[in-house]
Amino acid sequence: MTWRELRVIATRELAGAGIGPAETEARFIVERASGYDAGEWLEIADAAPSARAEQELREMVRRRVAGEPLQYVLGGWEFRGLDLFVDHRVLIPRPETEYVVEVALEEAERSGLRRSRRAVARVEPEAPAAVADIGTGSGAIALALEAELADVEVWASDVSEDALAVARANVAGCAATRVRIAAAGVWFEPLPERLRGSLRLIVSNPPYVAEHEVAELPREVAGHEPRGALVSGPSGTEAIERLLEDALQWLAPGASFVCEIAPHQAGTMIEHARALGYHEVMVRHDLTGRPRVLVARTG
Ligand SMILES: C[S@@+](CC[C@H](N)C(=O)[O-])C[C@H]1O[C@@H](n2cnc3c(N)ncnc32)[C@H](O)[C@@H]1O
Repeated sequence: MTWRELRVIATRELAGAGIGPAETEARFIVERASGYDAGEWLEIADAAPSARAEQELREMVRRRVAGEPLQYVLGGWEFRGLDLFVDHRVLIPRPETEYVVEVALEEAERSGLRRSRRAVARVEPEAPAAVADIGTGSGAIALALEAELADVEVWASDVSEDALAVARANVAGCAATRVRIAAAGVWFEPLPERLRGSLRLIVSNPPYVAEHEVAELPREVAGHEPRGALVSGPSGTEAIERLLEDALQWLAPGASFVCEIAPHQAGTMIEHARALGYHEVMVRHDLTGRPRVLVARTG
């Protein structure tokens, strides 16, 4: 059988399982099994895969048909141009979070940090500014900040040892020399004490689903992604509130806390941040007009 024939079979099986973009997903799966990308399709379409590659493809289709998210099946996903390894130990990085990073970069520029262009060789300063990604999961936010900000050291923390193992693999895979993965621990606790009061930017995409909302999540999400990455507690805002409170001790003057939120949490989280004494508080709307990113600046 050729790759072309296998792709037709994969498309049919995925469509049969009710997977909407079956053709696109089949293409991703073929690319992963063959090791060739879309532009090289014509080179391999009429060739026969090795027995091992065919078996790998069939196993990926089986897992996807059984309901596993495509990203876990592929074992990787792209986030702001970075190829990240992902599996069931971490949340799948979302497009919403790519926007969180965009807002974070604007906040970083506002406070005097410089954006970098990946192709340009960077001069490492002796004491780079420190920024942090709290609840790093796969390391997506930390790695994007490292790639897109010049002259910073990015600290990443997570309570889950499993997630940190994935983050470490991604730091190695991206050859990210300025990302520091802290030991497993709760929010800011694993960060070195010397960083207290000096972080120029804190970014987080914490769990923000309420316990009573879990039943409304798509089965693909609730049944496969780690509960600890999704669910915060009875109200859904527990983690954001705690981060807002703790971040005040870790931010430098004039620095920003940037946090992904659910749209319905915007009003209460703005009020909470103001009550805590942040100097400026706002919510940024994503491209679809939904309030998705809380920004709280110190004075
Ligand atoms: C929504 S996921 C975000 C993962 C990643 N930053 C992203 O955007 O794709 C939330 C992460 O916070 C971590 N987390 C949950 N509770 C935590 C806590 N108390 N302290 C530190 N990290 C926590 C979870 O393990 C998970 O990796």
